[in-house]
Amino acid sequence: MTTEQILILDFGSQYTQLIARRVRELNVYCEIHPYNNIPALTPNVKGVILSGSPSSVRDADAPNIDLSLFRQKLPLLGVCYGAQLLAQTSGGEVQASAIREYGRAKLGTVTAGSPLMQGIDSHSQVWMSHGDTITSVPADFEIIASTDSVRVAAFHVANEPTYGIQFHPEVTHSLQGKVLLHNFVVNICGCSQNWTADSFVESTVAQLQQKLGNDKVVLGLSGGVDSSVAATLIHRAIGKNLYCIFVDNGVLRKDEFSGVLESYKTLGLNVKGVDAKEQFYTALTGLTDPEAKRKAIGKTFIEVFDQEAHLIEGVSWLGQGTIYPDVIESVSVKGPSATIKSHHNVGGLPDFMKLKVVEPLNTLFKDEVRAVGRTLGLPDAILGRHPFPGPGLAIRILGDVTPEKVQILQEVDALFINGLKREGLYDKVWQAGAMLLPVQSVGVMGDERTYERVVALRAVTSVDGMTADWAHLPYEFLADVSNEIINRVKGVNRVVYDISSKPPATIEWE
Ligand code: XMP
Repeated sequence: MTTEQILILDFGSQYTQLIARRVRELNVYCEIHPYNNIPALTPNVKGVILSGSPSSVRDADAPNIDLSLFRQKLPLLGVCYGAQLLAQTSGGEVQASAIREYGRAKLGTVTAGSPLMQGIDSHSQVWMSHGDTITSVPADFEIIASTDSVRVAAFHVANEPTYGIQFHPEVTHSLQGKVLLHNFVVNICGCSQNWTADSFVESTVAQLQQKLGNDKVVLGLSGGVDSSVAATLIHRAIGKNLYCIFVDNGVLRKDEFSGVLESYKTLGLNVKGVDAKEQFYTALTGLTDPEAKRKAIGKTFIEVFDQEAHLIEGVSWLGQGTIYPDVIESVSVKGPSATIKSHHNVGGLPDFMKLKVVEPLNTLFKDEVRAVGRTLGLPDAILGRHPFPGPGLAIRILGDVTPEKVQILQEVDALFINGLKREGLYDKVWQAGAMLLPVQSVGVMGDERTYERVVALRAVTSVDGMTADWAHLPYEFLADVSNEIINRVKGVNRVVYDISSKPPATIEWE
């Protein structure tokens, strides 16, 4: 099956990824490319969407492209900045609005006969976010929707499949945005909506078989969703030629190493568990600075992985679970450094390993990775796991890390996480965990005065981890879990709950 696709050109809008998400929800594959690095057009490309932008088309250095690459050749939809660019480069006029329009607006008139506006009600709510407005359009531009304050809310260029809209159909506040995108992608571009998790698995497995042949691949499993799905997919393609390595770095959750290893084996993966706890504890000895701890763990991981990979004779590929947002951000309009946090483990392993890289999930968003995992039969226990940082409990133990502290925190964390699962709260929070604080507090137990450790519990709701709110867990639950921790974990006499949002705080404490 050749994959039909929509090309989305990114001019830097905060909503560009959302356009891609919405198109894919229509079961149509799409790719985002920066406006200044347009790929060669193939027959698979069925239409083009021009995104919004924080820039103004009136600026001398405004992002621009040669629109003749697409116009009259492929259906074209300009969104916000994209629409303004279409209008301006055709002889229309774009001016600064008296006030920046941001938020909900209602369409007034809508041209029902327009293919783009089919099924869109007049008075439909849309989401506006613009400082400039198209004030005049050339004679062959037909206005197909207006609002009270924006006369050119949508236009169609006569005799060509070129459209522009001032509002953002990709934002859920545009209540019929999905209908509009369906009109464009399916009716106007003619995409057949056959891109599904099943079709992705089928075509990716075939591609992997062709690409990898009888070659051997090594892949580091972390217990998380991405590496697990990547491994299962590659395994489906090449079976035992995929060698997985799961390293116990000593800062995993309680029983995680044995539990996860077991479930990987049940899945039929060729996986080797490597107990490297001591090596990691040695590397962490005396380190208190969070970045130093991260670096020590990263470096030790590479050493252990490299050693293990060398034991696999003739291995030539490194499998990775990189997903699409990492890829988009590394080639974004703003450049790689603007968006990638230094602590996120993008970039893989060092050059000296001389392995070619295979990343079968690098076109998928997180929820699509889960859907593919489901298709591949991965258990919910793996697919529904909370995110867990690569440096694990080491960045939840504030200050220096010792095996004794790890053990205390593992016990606390397990009581918290199991409590969340027992009470049906686990799937309602995005991420949860416990922090071991570098302070001791006074308490009483029986007749004895105690002077012991304090732990902080953290649970957040979030969509992508970039922003987060503290989870409003029921008081009764917090009371029970606090009692349980203090009664059962020796060395802890106080539990606090973190009620900070991100920003200004972060999810982890280090
Ligand atoms: P913060 O603390 O920045 O965390 O709000 C956002 C998300 O990233 C995870 N995180 C990490 N993941 N290596 C990782 O692989 C790290 O060093 C790291 N630090 C934070 C964090 O758990 C949350 O999901």
